Amino acid sequence: MSSWMKLPPLRPITENEPYKLVFVCLGNICRSPTGEGIFQHLVNESGFENYFEIDSAGTSAFHVGQPANSKSSQVAESHGVKLLSRARQFKKSDLDYYDLIIPMDKENLENILAMTDSEDHKEKVQLLREYDPKPEDGEVPDPYYGGLSGFENVFQIVERSCKQLLEQLKPQVSP
Ligand code: 4NP
Repeated sequence: MSSWMKLPPLRPITENEPYKLVFVCLGNICRSPTGEGIFQHLVNESGFENYFEIDSAGTSAFHVGQPANSKSSQVAESHGVKLLSRARQFKKSDLDYYDLIIPMDKENLENILAMTDSEDHKEKVQLLREYDPKPEDGEVPDPYYGGLSGFENVFQIVERSCKQLLEQLKPQVSP
């Protein structure tokens, strides 16, 4: 781990108390379903599926009830990852429920922080690219209005960030 890389909120992770994460973007049809799908895939590959509870949400209600965007799903499936989410809107009680709340960009970070009323809540909210070995501007770009290459770029960013995040959480898992 690079010394600059952010630490997630840490605690012992057990089957009785799985670590709960929610990925958050605007629509919950492109970037955050990709985060949910990739993190679940990595957790399954590691044999830790009983130790993590993974979800995604959108700060908007634009697409509530919809499955992942077809280009997001196509790109994910080309990498062996299935996107199974149905869009829902992020809600204030998610700040209590989840251990780590992971917005994809600064606008969504600000929208979530505006719903917080304690330091405990604020500390749980961390941009995904805090875990990217190549963080660039710290944001996962919105691919919605562009072509397939933008969705592939999102997949690559989210995959390498999720790998690093899981590596930082694994030492907390107590079988
Ligand atoms: P997402 O992408 O936030 O990654 O799910 C978007 C989906 C829909 C819209 C914008 C971004 N929209 O404006 O409807």
